[in-house]
Amino acid sequence: MKSAVRGAMITFRADPFIVPDEESLTHLSDALIVIENGKIVAVGDAAELLPSLPPGTDITHYRDALIVPGFIDCHAHYAQTPMIAAFGEQLLDWLNLYTFNTEQAFGDPAVASEVAAIFLDEQLRHGVTTSAVFGTVHPESVEALFDQARRRNVRMLAGKVCMDRNAPASLLDSAQRAYDESEALIGRWHGVGRLEYAITPRFAPTSSPQQLEALGALAARYPDMPIQTHLAENRDEMAWVARLFPDARDYTDVYARHGLVRPRAIFGHGIHLTEPELDRLAENGASLAHCPTSNFFLGSGCFDVRRTRQRSLPVLTGLATDVGAGTSFSMLTTMNEAYKAAQFNGHALSAVQAFYLATRGGARALGVEDKVGSIAAGMDADLAVLDMAATPLIRYRMTRVRTIGEAMFVLMMLGDDRAVRDTWVAGCRWMPSGGLAGAFGDQHRAGAAQSILQGQAFGIDQCRQKRQQAPGERCQGHQRPMAGALPCAKVGEHGNDDEQYQRDDVADGRFLPG
Ligand code: GUN
Ligand code: FE
Repeated sequence: MKSAVRGAMITFRADPFIVPDEESLTHLSDALIVIENGKIVAVGDAAELLPSLPPGTDITHYRDALIVPGFIDCHAHYAQTPMIAAFGEQLLDWLNLYTFNTEQAFGDPAVASEVAAIFLDEQLRHGVTTSAVFGTVHPESVEALFDQARRRNVRMLAGKVCMDRNAPASLLDSAQRAYDESEALIGRWHGVGRLEYAITPRFAPTSSPQQLEALGALAARYPDMPIQTHLAENRDEMAWVARLFPDARDYTDVYARHGLVRPRAIFGHGIHLTEPELDRLAENGASLAHCPTSNFFLGSGCFDVRRTRQRSLPVLTGLATDVGAGTSFSMLTTMNEAYKAAQFNGHALSAVQAFYLATRGGARALGVEDKVGSIAAGMDADLAVLDMAATPLIRYRMTRVRTIGEAMFVLMMLGDDRAVRDTWVAGCRWMPSGGLAGAFGDQHRAGAAQSILQGQAFGIDQCRQKRQQAPGERCQGHQRPMAGALPCAKVGEHGNDDEQYQRDDVADGRFLPG
């Protein structure tokens, strides 16, 4: 059964760090995005495509909005949600004083599930539909995260953090356990629905050479598998790595000599990399995650995206929140901070470049550009619907813009979660019934309240595609059974074609050198 989303939209057909913005951006002022079985099957001008739709096709029409590919967050730590906005430290002290304490709770599946649910609902509220996420050292943390991700049908790369030194004993595994526990999780989750396992050493200081070797061996067994870790984030961290790995040529070499620098390896931060290190990342097809809110929050430095992208050997680069060192789930806010980071490096990041980093650029950095990051036939139907009148100031400012680039720039400078009117996940409109508002008892909109009454935990059940089906049938958009997905018996209750949806407003030890 087909459905469609109509409104102004943008997507990318080329890399704006290589070609001029106009050659990169596709903008349709009245587009129709036709969806079937969770995928986009056609995109074009509404006037051209409307006559080809079967009669009675469900169309969601957005006005005063800009439909963009679902945002991609290339690096985040879900277990740090409880300690986001922890005061006063730089990286190593911040890990010692806040992070390690918080992460110790995630061996408890109940804690892990609760936080994973909050984290994922926050992501969806912010229009994020694909992400690369760190668990904690506990396999239970990843079980819970994948389980919650599967219920929402988001695309996710995630893995168990591996660390066997320089952290509290309760957060340490060993080389062998890191290998075995990662592999067990791979067996259970890799390739399930939209989920992929990512081999996840925390960073060089918390892995012994033996552990990095073991994870290199695991990576060699799974040559297409993503890898995620941290690299060259903070000067003290880098000096420490040099002491811990005296034989390594540089920080990148610590990973490279263990086979961990390759396509689909994504390194968080990479602020202080040398030119030879950037060459090595590029030559090996590895990627960087630009985490500007985190880099500013921890005082780590000012990542220069022009330096990584506009060089003879460009390094694939995506944008990331790095929650909880990052201070926002919003990719709009993250673009805003990326703009400022670029300014400090002496250039202006265009809105087209920033949105590219948060969508198609991120998809390329994670090696999922054939599935998400663009609005095009064959892609998963993941969309963020941005509200051009989200706040009085945005509404006012939009009356003065002359080009789509200016409008995009206003959204990224003034927008945040208030500017995300809707999020579509694999062809289903997400409703935040299980989000933070729910956790804290705020009022839900009628549809969300209805789903709670029905015992549904997650808004993804509100898939509009189900409206054409008999009560009890499974949504065609969901390729596999979803524990949270109940059949939508309330046909016709979730809006009509021209609906303008309203949105809800909703340390003890010291283990690292200080
Ligand atoms: N380096 C090692 N672990 C972390 C982490 O949790 N957050 C950040 N920002 N950097 C790290
Ligand atoms: Fe991080």
